[in-house]
Amino acid sequence: WVFMVTAQTPTNIAVIKYWGKRDETLILPINDSISVTLDPSHLCTTTTAAVSPAFHQDRMWLNGKEISLSGGRFQSCLREIRARACDVEDETKGIKITKEDWGKLHVHIASYNNFPTAAGLASSAAGFACLAYALGKLMNVKEDESQLSAIARQGSGSACRSLFGGFVKWIMGKEDNGSDSLAVQLTDEKHWDDLVIVIAVVSSRQKETSSTTGMRESVETSLLLQHRAKEIVPKRILQMEEAIKNRDFASFSQLTCADSNQFHAVCLDTCPPIFYMNDTSHRIISIVEKWNRSEEAPQVAYTFDAGPNAVLIARNRNAATSLIQRLLYYFPPNSDDLSSYIIGDKSIA
Ligand code: DP6
Repeated sequence: WVFMVTAQTPTNIAVIKYWGKRDETLILPINDSISVTLDPSHLCTTTTAAVSPAFHQDRMWLNGKEISLSGGRFQSCLREIRARACDVEDETKGIKITKEDWGKLHVHIASYNNFPTAAGLASSAAGFACLAYALGKLMNVKEDESQLSAIARQGSGSACRSLFGGFVKWIMGKEDNGSDSLAVQLTDEKHWDDLVIVIAVVSSRQKETSSTTGMRESVETSLLLQHRAKEIVPKRILQMEEAIKNRDFASFSQLTCADSNQFHAVCLDTCPPIFYMNDTSHRIISIVEKWNRSEEAPQVAYTFDAGPNAVLIARNRNAATSLIQRLLYYFPPNSDDLSSYIIGDKSIA
């Protein structure tokens, strides 16, 4: 017999960034972060986890290609889920797996991203969130989403925020064992459903410096990062929570853009400096800044993760339409600068 479950998890985009760890193994951050979860129909990971007595080792395939599981992160997630596994019984198929059996059985996992892997589109976030969730369901784990988020976190920090829709906060926590470093939902997907997210794919190539390596180097060398984590982010988190609660787009966009720019300033302040944005990213920032200044109120916020792709958050559908017209004007469809626009409403549509 084979017993399997399939889960789908969207990616999330941070509006107050996570950058820097205080514990590399447990993946504990040096500051809180806040993100918005996208609509699962646009950028998501689909994962099937299966168990069978015929499996003789744990194996995993990503986008159809087998990957090595020797890395500690996958093993941490699997170990944490196995430790919480409960009895599973499926009478129709005559399957009965006891708590003790889970320690002896092996799993096969197949995972697909419907967007470029490791191109700065937060694929590890959706990937590890989906892995933790699918394994949790397979093994009948009783933990709630926040507790599962602390397990997903051990796969990739940003993954903990993908267990919820809407706006999500990752609380950094204080404990050395990471038990209080988990995600909580701030507002659900219906709270601010005017927002429309457009992703301008500047490059779908794999990034040169991974987030993991980049943030390690920033922690080791950037004084600006220390200042950011201690003095700037705690205040910004409170302001951002207030802006989200009040659906105050002017404050939201000011904080989002400022935080993205500070994160990239930290990358420049790292030794050797890290360049995630390119000329096209900079042009997009200028276009949005100029446009926002020419209107009575800001229309669009921009944010860039560890790559050149722009995540643009429009205040409503009209602003999103106007944004796309502007992008098409500055970057005609056959230009080399932008490879595509992904329209990813946050989890509302
Ligand atoms: C710039 O979660 O990919 O997207 O924890 O080492 O796996 P690891 O890093 P990862 O870093 C994400 C960094 C970011 C900002 C963010 O998502 O908050």
